[in-house]
Amino acid sequence: MCGIVGYIGSKDAYPILINGLKRLEYRGYDSAGIAVIGEKTKIFKKKGKVNDLDKLVGDNDISGSIGIGHTRWATHGEPNDTNAHPHTSQQGKFTVIHNGIIENYSRLKTKLEDRGYNFKSKTDTEVLANLIEYIYLKGKGEIDAEQAVRLALSKVIGAYGIVVIAQDEPDKLIAARKGSPLVIGIGEGEYFIASDATPIIEYTDSVIYLNNDNVAVIKKDQLTLKTINNDKLEPSIQKLTMDIGSIEKNGYEHFMLKEIFEQPRSITDTFRGRVAADLSEIRLGGLHDVMPQLENAKRIIIIACGTSWHAGLVGEYLIETFARIPVEVEYGSEFRYRNPIIYKDDVVIAISQSGETADTLAAINIAKEAGATVLGICNVVGASIPRETDAGVYTHAGPEIGVASTKAFTAQVTVLTMISLILGNNKGFLNKKEYQNLIKNLVEIPGKIEEILKLDKEIIEISEKYKDATNFLYLGRGYLFPVALEGALKLKEISYIHAEGYPAAEMKHGPIALIDKNMPVVVVATKDKSYEKIVSNIQEVKARNGIVIAVVTKGDTIIKNMADHVLEVPETDEALAPLLTVVPLQLLSYHIAVMRGCDVDQPRNLAKSVTVE
Ligand code: G6P
Repeated sequence: MCGIVGYIGSKDAYPILINGLKRLEYRGYDSAGIAVIGEKTKIFKKKGKVNDLDKLVGDNDISGSIGIGHTRWATHGEPNDTNAHPHTSQQGKFTVIHNGIIENYSRLKTKLEDRGYNFKSKTDTEVLANLIEYIYLKGKGEIDAEQAVRLALSKVIGAYGIVVIAQDEPDKLIAARKGSPLVIGIGEGEYFIASDATPIIEYTDSVIYLNNDNVAVIKKDQLTLKTINNDKLEPSIQKLTMDIGSIEKNGYEHFMLKEIFEQPRSITDTFRGRVAADLSEIRLGGLHDVMPQLENAKRIIIIACGTSWHAGLVGEYLIETFARIPVEVEYGSEFRYRNPIIYKDDVVIAISQSGETADTLAAINIAKEAGATVLGICNVVGASIPRETDAGVYTHAGPEIGVASTKAFTAQVTVLTMISLILGNNKGFLNKKEYQNLIKNLVEIPGKIEEILKLDKEIIEISEKYKDATNFLYLGRGYLFPVALEGALKLKEISYIHAEGYPAAEMKHGPIALIDKNMPVVVVATKDKSYEKIVSNIQEVKARNGIVIAVVTKGDTIIKNMADHVLEVPETDEALAPLLTVVPLQLLSYHIAVMRGCDVDQPRNLAKSVTVE
């Protein structure tokens, strides 16, 4: 989604801003812009990539040591040069960059138009810039820029993370947050601001996360934090744990490929320090205080969006199998608007890589209001979801930059596996031997993924054959049904080939009509209790001349004789098979997308973190 970066200090702002915008590219955007205060404020903005903006700036004078930059993902107004941020108010008093949506912008706009304001863009952000200016000028010198920002924000309904430059007070940046994240990096005689920590980490590891309704006035050697109502706040300084290597490609052609190959490490990081060295037990410190609620829950509701929702579905199978607690898996966007029934003894688990997904956050608030215990499974440390929930577990997969989620998914499934095993053991549904055997299986997963990654060459050959297909079908049963959904999502996200994931047996109720000699069908069919059934499903596809690409357990001979291609993965307990079988599907979609010339890390129209509904 949109990205924000800002700098105030003694260095040249432009290189820091443009580099910061490049770091934020992964969030997804359609235009970018920059404003630097020198002798006067210089603004450049452009539809397209950050490189296009850099070219536009070219040899122009952009000197100055205070500035702001923005990558935009269009919500109000099409992506073009005019709608790109920053937006400057009519008389040039204020320049604003903004993430989020101002819901009452059209009413505010009409009021401003009645008072003589004209608008150049179609954005809600320009309305905000003009509103701040209107209030400031109406104050006739009685109020300063910061007061004008706070008063304007008190009239705004919606979500925002903003950074404002004021023409009359060119020694400061004014930042405010409601809903859209902002983090301030503290340097020596300088401050950085950004919508996530990735543009900041190379300069400092001391940060302040703004909370909702916080306003920060930042000068190069002073930071003042207050609420929108002008109550002073003491900033809480935190240390970033991310390292710079984790946000670079390290020799891989794309972040997505790096992140797929990182999974043995990222999964190990997820269970590190949580699985006892002698594999006797799993401890999740973040859930310690809420264990009674979890164990006694009559129902668990999992809330998520996108890939995280698929991880949630795996969680449903795991928790119901091992802990015998009924689980419902909900999309945040549906849950929040359908007046759901929530009981006080429900436990709600929100799953999110970014911890900022607007629909998931809104659903959390509804669950909290209803009195349920709300837990989070999140990758980004310090994000909104971990802060809004009662307790939770970080996935520790490290920064995920590729828009298509890969290592975050396997880390989420690892956490859900750990939760289900702890609950199964505590509630007595798993005996000690079963519990410890499953733990052993879990710690063997990273090594087994190393083996699967060696299939890369074979997968490239298969990709070559089917890269021009227009449709793909993905089938799986039980634990592997969510994997089929995830495989299909990966392919459509980055290669733009239409793909559907289906429970294999449901194929007969519709998708079978699509099967012909041009239709690749990816079947996830490792050895488990529905193996015989899925073999029949493969026969049904072959009987209609479909092409079968099967992910099977090493040594499988039955499917090998039927399928056009098999990809063998090592054996594991069926409950852990999603962690292995998803990997070849990630690689398949990656290679197909690369062969089709698609922008794998920044697929069109998609955003890494969806902070608007
Ligand atoms: C976007 C991303 C997906 C992600 C989804 C949910 O659509 O492109 O990769 O799965 O949001 O995001 P979250 O951060 O809540 O997991």
